[in-house]
Order: sequence, then C-alpha cells, then structure tokens
Amino acid sequence: MNIPQSKIDEISASLDIVDVISAYTPLRKAGKSFMGRCPYHEEKTPSFSVSQEKGVFHCFGCGKSGNMFTFVMDMENFTFFDTVKFLADKANITIEFENEPFDPDRNKVEIYYDINKKAGKYFYEKLNSREGAYAKEYLNTRGLKDDTIVKFGLGYSLRDKDALYREFENDYTAEDIQGSGLILQLGAGEIRDRFRGRLMFPIFNEAGRVVGFGGRRMYDESTDEAKYINSPETKIYNKSKILYGLNFAKNAIKQKGFVLLVEGYMDLISLFQKGIENVVASSGTSLTQLHSKILSRYTKEVVVVYDADLAGQNASRRAIELLVENDINVSILELPYGDDPDTYIQKNGIDGFERLLNNRLSIIDYIAERYETDGKMNSPEGKTEFVREIIGLIVKMRDAIKRDFYIKGIAEKFSIYESIIRKELDSVLKLKSRGLTRETNTDRPVKKPKERVSKFSAVELVLIRLLIDSDDKTKSLLMNELEMELISNDTVRKIVNYIMLNIDSPEKITHIQLFNEFQDEEAKDIIGKALLDENLIMQDIKSKNHLGEANSVLSQLKLYNIRNKIKDIEIQIKSSNDYSPEILRLLNTQQKLKREQIKIEKSLRS
Ligand code: GTP
Ligand code: MN
Repeated sequence: MNIPQSKIDEISASLDIVDVISAYTPLRKAGKSFMGRCPYHEEKTPSFSVSQEKGVFHCFGCGKSGNMFTFVMDMENFTFFDTVKFLADKANITIEFENEPFDPDRNKVEIYYDINKKAGKYFYEKLNSREGAYAKEYLNTRGLKDDTIVKFGLGYSLRDKDALYREFENDYTAEDIQGSGLILQLGAGEIRDRFRGRLMFPIFNEAGRVVGFGGRRMYDESTDEAKYINSPETKIYNKSKILYGLNFAKNAIKQKGFVLLVEGYMDLISLFQKGIENVVASSGTSLTQLHSKILSRYTKEVVVVYDADLAGQNASRRAIELLVENDINVSILELPYGDDPDTYIQKNGIDGFERLLNNRLSIIDYIAERYETDGKMNSPEGKTEFVREIIGLIVKMRDAIKRDFYIKGIAEKFSIYESIIRKELDSVLKLKSRGLTRETNTDRPVKKPKERVSKFSAVELVLIRLLIDSDDKTKSLLMNELEMELISNDTVRKIVNYIMLNIDSPEKITHIQLFNEFQDEEAKDIIGKALLDENLIMQDIKSKNHLGEANSVLSQLKLYNIRNKIKDIEIQIKSSNDYSPEILRLLNTQQKLKREQIKIEKSLRS
C-alpha cells in the first residue's frame, strides 16, 4: 500500500486542487483563495475555502480539512491507494511499481489483487465448462439470468483437489497463492484448493476489486461441509470492513437516500436482478463498527432485512444496536417466517417487496411487536421489561434530540407516562456516567483539578504554521525553546511532535504528509486551519518577521500555561477548607506565578 512520496508529490504538483474540487462543488475566486459551498455539509452561504497555492481546503463551517487526496477519498469513498490511481490517471501519470524502490508489502498486495482477479476469471470460465454445467443449471433454476451472473462474476470451482493451484503455479509461488487465500498448505508439501466443487461469489471491495470469494456448497454428498466457506482474512481482505455488494450499490444508495441490509449473497443478487440496487449484504459475519461507519458515509438510513428465522432475529437485534450507536436511523423490514429476501422476492415480485418496504417498522414497533407476539405487553411486568429494552437502545443514541423524540413516541404509543420513561432513562444514563467516574476517581486529600481537555488555541495554530512555513532561523529557535508541556491540546502536541521529528529530513514537510499521518477529524481541522486561516496570520508573519512572531508565540504559550496554573491553584485553595501548610505552599506558588505572568504580559506589549 505504500506509494512513494515522490509519486504523490508529482501528482499533486501536476494537478490543481481547484480543478479537482470544482468537479464536485462550484468554486469562486475570493481574494487569495477560492470559496464554495461545502460538499461535506448542507449550507446556504459558502464557507468552504480552497487554497490553490497551498493545495489544501478547509471548511470554516464544519471544520473539515484536507488536500486533493483526502477530498477524493471522501467523495468517492476510495481507499488511499485507489485515490492515488484515480488522480494519477487524471494527471496522466503512470504508476509503475516495478521501477519503484522495493517494498515487499506493497508488492504483495498487488500480487494478491492480481491472483484474486485472475481466480475470478478462472472460476467464471469453469462455470461454463462441462463440470460446471450442473452449477450453471442450479443458478438458472434459482432464477438468475446470464447477465446477472456476468455482472456479479459468479463462477464455479472444480471438484479436483488442486485444479486451481496447478493452473496458477507456473505464474505465482505457492506462498503468494496461499497469501491470497486460495489454497491450503496441508504440510508435507501437500497443497489443496480452498474451494472445491462450489458455486463461487467474488467479493469486491468498495472500489470494485476482487479481494476474496464466498463459495456455496453444490453437492449433497458434501453436507458435512459448511454451506458456505469464505476466503480467510488476507492483506487485501479485511472482513470487518468489507460489505458485499457495496461497490455495485454505491450510487443507488446515495440516490435513494437509504440502504437495505441483507444477510446473504443470494439475497443481494436476487434483489439487484429485480431492480433494487440500494442493498448491501453482511454475508453471514456479524456487522462491525467499521461496517456501520462505512455505511454511514453513504447514508444515515438503514433498513435491516434479515431472514425471518430465529438466527436472523438475533442477528437483526445486534445489528440494530450497533447501527443505533453510530447515529444511524434504523428500521426493519419484516419478512414472513421462513422467507429470506431472495425467496420472498422470487415469490412476490418487486411489488410485494415494496409493499413490505413501505410497511417497515421503526425499532420501537419492531421490538414492541416481538413483545406482543409473546403476549407480554398485557402485563405490567412485560411492559416494564419492554420499556427497559427500548431504553437500552435509546441510551446508545448520541443525539439528545433524537432520544427525546423516541421517548415521546413510546409514551404516546403505549400510553406510558413520559416521566416514567425519562426517569428510567436518567437512571441508566447516570449508571453509565458513574461507571466512568468510578474508574478515574483517586483518593487524594486535596482534590486534583480536572484535566483540561482544551480546544486548540490560535497561538498553537500559528506555532504549527511557523514550524512549516517560516525561515530556518525561526524554526531552530522554536526547536530549541519550545517546551512541549506548554501545548495544552493533545492533538496539537502530537502534530508538533511529528513535525519536529521530521524537520531535519531533506524533504520539506508538506500538508500531504501531515494529512496522511493524521487522519482523525480534530487533527485535520487543526492542520487545515493552521495552513489556511488568514485571520491567524498576525502582523509579524505577514511582514515576514518570523522570528518576532515565534518569540511572541513562545511567550503566549507560557502565559496561557501560567494562567491555567493560577486557576488550578485557586480551585485547589477553594476546595480545601482548613488552613494547612499545604495551602500556604499553594499561596506562595500562586504569588510567584502571578509575578511571572505580569513580566510576560509586559514583554508581549512592548
Ligand atoms: P442460499 O441458501 O443459497 O439461498 O444462500 P443464502 O445467502 O440465503 O444463505 P443463508 O441465509 O443460509 O446464509 C446467509 C449468509 O450467511 C450467506 O450468504 C453466507 O454469506 C453466510 N453463511 C451461511 N452459511 C454459512 C456457513 O456455513 N459458513 C459461513 N462462513 N458463512 C455462512
Ligand atoms: Mn437464501
């Protein structure tokens, strides 16, 4: 996955960030930068700023920041690797891996992609071989048309013990074929194909590259084997990240504004064939945090359509919880008992399916319905249990307004006093927060002031700007004089630390490196503001008096730190009631700090 920095620099030098972004949102020149409406959040007045010269963007509305790479990654939901390929293409730059410095990992990844892609072709060919006729026939009896088979790249693996291996062994080493997940080494040099006599479903990543396979059992005599087996996790197949079908469903999800979540490969393909394309499959593995994060990049509305059996119900319950936790709105499409989406739509057509879709249940109704079928909603105990279960879900929602909305809904619908539900919710919330404080509580005689979780300050941003943009003399002053403890924000400290560690490297530190290194939102916000916010640049930096500016930054950091210390001491003095030697000591320190404060304030004014 490592692409040489030189390539990335070459791409970013050949492309204009304004051109790249303009393809997604119109930009207008405004002073030194370009402005437009932010594609990350809804807004009427433009607060999205792009600097052509620096190659970065920052939204002053939502805080999103980045460069052309992070932008395309977000907009297209590409991996970094695919983003580079996409932009390289735009810039007419070829990425030739052979000529790059050797990086075993990167080359492996490409080999694994290659093997999986070729295996996809190979299985597809075998579906049309004599042995594959049975599988082909099976697909037809299950109602799959030829163009559907082609679209999803379905195939067949021969029953022979190592047919694929023999086909591939001339072009690849056994080690690489194994690394790509397609064969098993059984010891004593015995090699066996992982998939034998199975219907093959290629599994694609978001960018549409084959990363693995699911294989469905075809023959009755092998009933002792699992119905489906899947490729193992490999360097290119991370099961907690891949949602089957997402590459095909992307556009339809954005267009429809919601996604259907089904369990099986066949479910997804069947719905697709009937024209329902906003669907992804968890393919038997339980949904992960990452899955739901990935989904929420496309939509915040998920309709869970799991099988109507007990296993499906339990899986739905877990999926609902996880999605709710990630601030996704969940509803449930209930199928008649015994059906799965595939069998249902084969029997009832798209009309039948859409009827169910229109009657889908909210999470509350879904859970209530299960209590009702169990006859529990008639007794006070049952109702209490129901409220508890619902509350258990509501506390997971991060949005207080949404929580409120749900509480009102339950109260109204089930004639329960709102106050009772609220009380229950409050007690659960309190338990949750107490759980947290209990852990951090220490038994100190004098209370330690609360950790300051500070938002970064403008001075800290100027510091970053100076470390990147100023002359060498200024940089070395900062390197020598800066005390890291004076930086109050953790993320700023990490960024500064990173810059300092790399400041001597021959290549200048660029925003590209910084955005690559720091992926979390706060860090991106900080980097973007540090590089782009014109208000940040004070008189000195504008007039190129970098040294003066750096001195002022150092003093201000000290000043902040002293002010905070003074405040902390005040709190400590207030919270201890007896007149102890400890207090005397505190008062003394406070005096000293105040004198220092005045000194620095004076020096800053002059
Ligand atoms: P059909 O039976 O052909 O209609 O497939 P299905 O997709 O309806 O299968 P099912 O509902 O039994 O399972 C749903 C999904 O769970 C499948 O698509 C597989 O991804 C996965 N799955 C099912 N059985 C197994 C198994 O035995 N092992 C593993 N690893 N996954 C399975
Ligand atoms: Mn099925």
